[in-house]
Amino acid sequence: MDPKLASIIEQVKVDIITPTQQRDNAKQQEEVSRSFISDTITVPTKEMFAYAVQASVGDDVYNEPSTIALEAHIAELTGKEAALFVSSGTMGNQLAIRTHLQQPPNSIICDVRAHINKYEAGGAAIHSGALQNALTPKNGHHLTLKDIEPHVVFGTDVHSAPTRIICLENTLNGTIMPQSDIIEIADFALKNGILMHLDGARLWHAAVETRTPIDELCAPFDSVSLCFSKGLGAPVGTCLVGPKAFIQKARWFRKIFGGGMRQTGVLAGSVAYALSHNFPLLPRVHALAKRLQAGLEELQVGILSPAETCMVFYDPSTIGVEYWEIIDRAAALPKPISLTGSRLVVHIQTSHEAVEDFLSLIRTLKEEKVQAGIVPSPVDSDGMRNVYVRATRPSTPTR
Ligand SMILES: Cc1ncc(COP(=O)(O)O)c(C=O)c1O
Repeated sequence: MDPKLASIIEQVKVDIITPTQQRDNAKQQEEVSRSFISDTITVPTKEMFAYAVQASVGDDVYNEPSTIALEAHIAELTGKEAALFVSSGTMGNQLAIRTHLQQPPNSIICDVRAHINKYEAGGAAIHSGALQNALTPKNGHHLTLKDIEPHVVFGTDVHSAPTRIICLENTLNGTIMPQSDIIEIADFALKNGILMHLDGARLWHAAVETRTPIDELCAPFDSVSLCFSKGLGAPVGTCLVGPKAFIQKARWFRKIFGGGMRQTGVLAGSVAYALSHNFPLLPRVHALAKRLQAGLEELQVGILSPAETCMVFYDPSTIGVEYWEIIDRAAALPKPISLTGSRLVVHIQTSHEAVEDFLSLIRTLKEEKVQAGIVPSPVDSDGMRNVYVRATRPSTPTR
């Protein structure tokens, strides 16, 4: 071979598998079983990959049979005409907003705590030129028509940006939106020519907990985005569902956004495995989250948002303990536990042992505070609190 070419080939080569990869992966899986940080951290299993590699090997921008089969299944499951496999939940939501909205000025309504409002980097303004009208639910749990109606912008007043989409999220912070309230909002939207989008990243959990079929949960919406890489434990992927013409247009925007993927069969295969084998694990997940809540309540720890599905938000100041103390002590356990702040997320790979170890750590900390004569903070009962609190350490005094 031409020595110059041989040298370039050598430069390009890489081996990313470490000599201890299998052991590292097993360690990662063990860490994941003791992490309450998120459900996005679940690791794909050998069984999942063994199934996934049998999938077709086409190019999804043209025609990828296994991906098309998955999209057809999700369309049927959700009771919609068509589905589009996309790379992430953010992509699903942003594509939906972009595809629904046409000529500005436009605005969308969503919950102030919604992923679309807080964690998509202002994407609706960037991609779709839409104003986000983010509302706080008066009941402290979920938006109702009473919250939404006074904020809907109608008419042709040139000072305003008309409301085009109401975007809801179910579950939100692990809490379930009552279907009767969703239907009331959807009826209002339909009468007023407003579209309805659902961020259903964790709609799976609502289906399991309320025993409601997925198509019934999706029925009030023009479009729904459902994630596979959170509660269901697939490595990648979300499906956006809706009418055929909407999905055709969304496919176009997906390409514009740079989200047209190629050999997605192996991803679709992983998702199919997750739907068949991981979805049935969610009742155990919810039971573990409820066990966490019950254990915390027994210790008089404040609950900021209850474990309706896979999350519980807690406030340890009621026993005189701060988040950062818990984080540090949990990280120093012989078998460490990973935490961020108020949010505890349980997932399909969470171990029962991790839940009990976490509760016994809280018990120990409480006993230490009692012995040290620490007086707990009074419970903050001011209106609707921000339940998602990240731990902050007291700053070291500087001279
Ligand atoms: C409710 C909700 N919607 C959307 C997303 C975005 O998903 P992704 O991280 O795949 O973009 C998340 C992410 O955790 C989420 O929790």
